Amino acid sequence: MCGIVGYLGTSEAMPVLFNLLKRLEYRGYDSAGIAIMNESVETFKTRGSVDDLRSIAPDIKGCTGIGHTRWATHGKPSSENAHPHCDCTGSIAVVHNGIIENYIEIKGKLIDSGHEFRSETDTEVLPHLIEEYYDGDLESSVQNALSVVRGSYALAAVSADDPDKIVVARKDSPLVLGLGDGGFFVASDVSAILKYTKNVIFMDDEEIGTIKKDGISITTLKGVPVEKKIEMIEWDPESAEKSGYEHFMLKEIFEQPDIIRETFSGRISADGVDLGLTLPDVKRITIIACGTSYHAGLFGRYVIERFARIPVDVEIASEFRYTDPILDCGDLVIAITQSGETADTLAAIRESESKGCEKLGIVNVPGSSITRESQCIFTRAGPEVGVAATKSFTSQLAVLLLLAVQLGRQRKVLSTADANEFVYELKQMSGNIQRVLNDAPQIKECAELFAGADQCMFMGRGANYPIALEGALKLKEISYIPAEGFPAGELKHGPLSLIYDGVPVVAIATEDTVYDKVLGNIKEVKARGATVIGIANESDTEIEKYVDYVIRIPDANQWIAPVLSSVVLQLFAYYIAYYRGCEIDKPRNLAKSVTVE
Ligand code: F6R
Repeated sequence: MCGIVGYLGTSEAMPVLFNLLKRLEYRGYDSAGIAIMNESVETFKTRGSVDDLRSIAPDIKGCTGIGHTRWATHGKPSSENAHPHCDCTGSIAVVHNGIIENYIEIKGKLIDSGHEFRSETDTEVLPHLIEEYYDGDLESSVQNALSVVRGSYALAAVSADDPDKIVVARKDSPLVLGLGDGGFFVASDVSAILKYTKNVIFMDDEEIGTIKKDGISITTLKGVPVEKKIEMIEWDPESAEKSGYEHFMLKEIFEQPDIIRETFSGRISADGVDLGLTLPDVKRITIIACGTSYHAGLFGRYVIERFARIPVDVEIASEFRYTDPILDCGDLVIAITQSGETADTLAAIRESESKGCEKLGIVNVPGSSITRESQCIFTRAGPEVGVAATKSFTSQLAVLLLLAVQLGRQRKVLSTADANEFVYELKQMSGNIQRVLNDAPQIKECAELFAGADQCMFMGRGANYPIALEGALKLKEISYIPAEGFPAGELKHGPLSLIYDGVPVVAIATEDTVYDKVLGNIKEVKARGATVIGIANESDTEIEKYVDYVIRIPDANQWIAPVLSSVVLQLFAYYIAYYRGCEIDKPRNLAKSVTVE
């Protein structure tokens, strides 16, 4: 959802900015641009990728600069609409992530006072406003400009008058500053700067920072100095690299055995589960999330209700915030979010706070906005660069399983013996994911057969229903094949009409209490000509009689099998997209981390 970067230091800025931008490309990739402080502000931008920009930009010398990779909101992808945007004189340049809500009104006033606009973006009002307020000091001009702006922003601004300075500001869009040996870094996301430094400052809302050669100072928008903590990021810089894999998505799928071990580390023992926080004793839980994280939330409902017997509602964050939700003071609201920055999820958790609810985040990115607003359980999946969520999803499922067990024990509805038996199963999860991955060549062969499909259906029941939804989402987002996931029991109520000769249906038919029912549903689609790919346990000797192709997962507890099936579906989607020649890490129109509404 747009990435902004900046560098001020002793090295040439251009190669550093390209490096930072490449690492943020997953946030948007329809256009890119940089501004380097030379004798003047030298700006280059283009429609297309960071590599396209690199191929057209001349080598500009200068040790200070800012950059941007765009995911279009206001104005189509074009070089005019790409950032940085400049003021009328071309001496002030700004990169921005967010939305200026009152830009039409501001733009009108600026045009009336003689400013000339070159783009259709909301962002362009920022450099003109800074120009309007310019008093020789970039920081106070940015501060004054922001006082009339409504909306969200993470921005970096430079001025030809002050070539050794970058001014940054944040409101409702992420912004992190890195303190390295040879200079200072600005980025929308920590993973971009990990290669250079692990020491970071997370900017908070309504803060302005000034970066100069001798250091960083931060104040509130009203100019009150703020003492910021320098935090150390534990992530391994290698984990944000492709490490020989063709795509980040594939690399991240194959990281899952290690990630799950990390997610469980120090949290499970012979005595059960300890997430390191006291969970409130509540009567009702509401889970809010978007996209893949929402599917994890649906899975969470099944396991929390089963293990802890607490009623759980699961809501799509963008719907929840506008429905005047009925929440009781003391209910627990859990926000699930990989990035910790999804605008709708953050707004929903704030809404629940205003109603007096207890809040809990399940989050991956350290230092992200949600971590500063709520107590959080970290999924510990490391940086996820592929736009399609994979390892973050399975680590969310793993945390939800832990949460369900801890709540169940706390409420004494889960016996010690049952908890211990389940913990034993959890300990096998990482090894079992590895066994699924060992079968990747077979999943690849199966995917090749369906790479030309016009549509694909995914069905499952119970805790496998959210996994079917996630399988469909993965396939559609990276291969562009229309795909639908549905609860197998709903077939007769509509989806059956989509079945025709040869249409692929992926049926999750692992052994659980509804296994026989799923076999019945498979018969229904087979009878209408579907080609069925069954995901089944390795010991299942029946399944071959029902389906056309079988992909096996290790025998596992029925609450753990959905995690293993998820990995199968990730690989299935990945290989289909691969055979279709899709841009797997940069799916059309999508960006990771949706920081605008
Ligand atoms: C799909 C995907 C998205 C995200 C959604 C929520 O692969 O990644 O659907 O799950 O945008 O993002 P987070 O979890 O960061 O709140």
